[in-house]
Amino acid sequence: MANLSSEFVGIKSPNPFWLASAPPTDKQYNVERAFEAGWGGVVWKTLGAEGPPVVNVNGPRYGAIWGADRRLLGLNNIELITDRPLEVNLREIKAVKRKWRDRALVISLMVPCDEESWKDILHRIEDTEADGVELNFGCPHGMAERGMGSAVGQVPEYIEMVTRWVKQHSRMPCIVKLTPNITDIRKPAEAAKRGGADAVSLINTINSITSVNLDNFSPEPSIDGKGTHGGYCGPAVKPIALNMVAEIARNPETRGLPISGIGGVTTWRDAAEFLALGAGNVQVCTAAMTYGFKIVQEMISGLSQYLDDKQIGLSDLVGRAVPNVTDWQYLNLNYVTKAHIDQDACIKCGRCYAACEDTSHQAIAMSADRTFTVKDEECVACNLCVNVCPVDNCITMVPLAKGAVDPRTGVKVGDYANWTTHPNNPSVQAAE
Ligand SMILES: Cc1cc2nc3c(=O)[nH]c(=O)nc-3n(C[C@H](O)[C@H](O)[C@H](O)COP(=O)(O)O)c2cc1C
Ligand code: SF4
Ligand code: SF4
Repeated sequence: MANLSSEFVGIKSPNPFWLASAPPTDKQYNVERAFEAGWGGVVWKTLGAEGPPVVNVNGPRYGAIWGADRRLLGLNNIELITDRPLEVNLREIKAVKRKWRDRALVISLMVPCDEESWKDILHRIEDTEADGVELNFGCPHGMAERGMGSAVGQVPEYIEMVTRWVKQHSRMPCIVKLTPNITDIRKPAEAAKRGGADAVSLINTINSITSVNLDNFSPEPSIDGKGTHGGYCGPAVKPIALNMVAEIARNPETRGLPISGIGGVTTWRDAAEFLALGAGNVQVCTAAMTYGFKIVQEMISGLSQYLDDKQIGLSDLVGRAVPNVTDWQYLNLNYVTKAHIDQDACIKCGRCYAACEDTSHQAIAMSADRTFTVKDEECVACNLCVNVCPVDNCITMVPLAKGAVDPRTGVKVGDYANWTTHPNNPSVQAAE
């Protein structure tokens, strides 16, 4: 078994799997059972300022998107930060940390955007012995209308200012949690770094309406006939989160800034992808809410097995894919592939034919007995057929060797060449 011990901004945990700030981490009862199941750390459900606790709706707070098998693909919520009294949370945090010294316990915070409020909450949490703080600049609903959460996370100057206050008034490691509800994720990450953040974590949830009830014409979840936008998470958001993590990892301004990857992590493989794109650890919410705490055991054994198979350590995986993330103009235009159909695997459903014939390049032939074959002279290698085929590995993309003639273009496959030097590129023509 590979050693999965992890150290993130100086915080040690037995593995890189932390539960994200959300219902799974909102009380001692949950967090202790999560630790018993094997989670390496938790970010406690966001605490607010001293005073009357926030009030949640009493109707449904989730909307969802499912796959055809009713597997949960996306979850939308309109829940607020913790609605339990501050003192109760602080007492429980302290008790948990005392008992579980080897696990990471980070406290998520969200208070009004003034220095006194931040100073006050930081002093309140000081004697919990928690390992660090995470600043929730991401929550897109409810709190944002009160000038907190994503209302701060959408303004880089505010992020920088609040992060600086936190670093001034606390010695704890400070993780800044970013909202994806912005145009360019690099800007808030740069602001967090300027403010002195030890790390960023992302993504918080994405603004969304998952569905509309077509009888009462209310967005779901419907609260007495009215709905509001909520925060979207779960497997559906993983591609958005991966891209944002990669953008921060390869941005020269933020390169090297530790990243905690969040968004749709459900299996060890999802986690490994976040790590490869530069995340130092991962946080999980929806998967635990869907399948329970023990899901971490598959993550631990799967990642461990993968590292053993590859004969690499955890730290070797972190950032391994970052040098391979590039901009479109640097992709090799001389990499030529053709679709190939494995006739033994094909179940003759015809999906590839319909897709290619109607919406791609009319490159698949269908015979009278429903044998489907690729016409190399038409195939542009878009791989749409691969993606619509219901049989795994039935259609594969086969590269042409260097020097071979592409039957579609009549041109020999050459060495690496990209758009920046392509004769059709107007800027190349202008330079000549
Ligand atoms: C019901 C619910 C409540 C959440 N509450 C918080 C919160 O209080 N603070 C916070 O920073 N993120 C909160 N989140 C966001 C999660 O921490 C996480 O960033 C997001 O769900 C994406 O991860 P996932 O795809 O693994 O769920 C909440 C998410 C859900 C589903
Ligand atoms: S790769 Fe694209 S063009 Fe080629 S056969 Fe498949 S769908 Fe058609
Ligand atoms: S989509 Fe796949 S299984 Fe269906 S006909 Fe095409 S190759 Fe065969």
